[in-house]
Amino acid sequence: MGALYEDVAAMDASYHLPTYARKPVLFTRGEGMRLYDDDGREYLDFVAGIGVVNLGHAHPAVAEAVCEQMRKLVQVSNLYHVEHRAALAGRLSALAGGGWKTFLCNSGTEAIEGAIKLARRWGKERRGSDCFEIVTAERSFHGRTMAALSATGQPSKQEAFEPLLPGFSHVPLNDIGSLEAAVTERTCAVLIEPVQGEGGVFPCDEAYLEAVRSLCDARDVLLIFDEVQSGMYRTGTAFAWQGYGVRPDVMTLAKGLANGLPAGAVLASGSAAEAFSPGDHGSTFGGGPVIAAAALATIDALEAEGLGANAAKTGEVLRASLRELAVRSGAITEVRGRGLMNAVTLAVPDAQQVGAACLERGLIVNAIGDSIVRFLPPLVCTEHETAILVDTLDAVLGAT
Ligand SMILES: Cc1ncc(COP(=O)(O)O)c(C=O)c1O
Repeated sequence: MGALYEDVAAMDASYHLPTYARKPVLFTRGEGMRLYDDDGREYLDFVAGIGVVNLGHAHPAVAEAVCEQMRKLVQVSNLYHVEHRAALAGRLSALAGGGWKTFLCNSGTEAIEGAIKLARRWGKERRGSDCFEIVTAERSFHGRTMAALSATGQPSKQEAFEPLLPGFSHVPLNDIGSLEAAVTERTCAVLIEPVQGEGGVFPCDEAYLEAVRSLCDARDVLLIFDEVQSGMYRTGTAFAWQGYGVRPDVMTLAKGLANGLPAGAVLASGSAAEAFSPGDHGSTFGGGPVIAAAALATIDALEAEGLGANAAKTGEVLRASLRELAVRSGAITEVRGRGLMNAVTLAVPDAQQVGAACLERGLIVNAIGDSIVRFLPPLVCTEHETAILVDTLDAVLGAT
């Protein structure tokens, strides 16, 4: 760690509200799968900004698109048309199979706020003012603003900020009976992550998602998929639901959408796409020219480099190696994931120590709570790099 690290860490401690327990490292440069600290030390990044830089760090095509747009036009209000914004909405609709309309915003939590407002608006129009309730999953994560936090199924993140917004209930994931019981005349939507991310990477069962779709159709309730983390090819397909073959009515995106720039989106189809009228929702910065250009360049590069296929293939190799490690070491009780969205549960609850030991060895992983370690590398990750991850984990788990 260099002198710059010491200065920056001291400034952070003095001047930032202490909302983050930051790690003892200062990254100053990135390229592809790699990050470099202020001493020039190289790290292999299996976090990718928490599932954000799907193309890898400092992708030249995104940098070029941003610089070009910065020189031309930086900001125009959403009251006016913008070339790249329109193109981005069309591109997202096509990626999702057509028939979608988009609202662009700046983050995942904002996308969830937009989806909640849209569902309430739709429900009230459909069945009157009592139809505003939303059912989500236990252990889910949908963001930190008050409505997104109320939707989140993690009491530990909510309790300090009660009272929460009314109208949210939570059911166990992959249990269709509980969902059937929870959906009533007052329910306007079911909100689900196809693969729970922040909760520790818990994929929905395929039969469960199909049953959720049928239930929503039968009860005339919107199905919203939160694809903030699982979208943008992370699980192999552009959106995780495409891998399941279950199409939602509404979906939310953010994280990988503009490869590291703040972008979010709500996509709606069918009657959900008719719910909003002018004035119902808005954003000053959402879908600005620079972000929209970055998102278009990101989608182009994800497609041109075949990174969805790589995520699917490399993810399978990674899970197979992690399962071998689990058997060999006895230190891992479960391996879970789809594409390059993966996690292990440890036999001994020392995930934080494992994360710290990996960092010391030049490998960045994400510890969740006491027992889960998550891996969300850029989608350029190779089999060789997954082998380094598994070898490092092997050494660390033997040593901790
Ligand atoms: C599934 C999901 N939804 C919403 C969010 C909130 O996104 P943001 O941090 O961009 O507000 C996250 C963030 O981790 C997420 O994983």
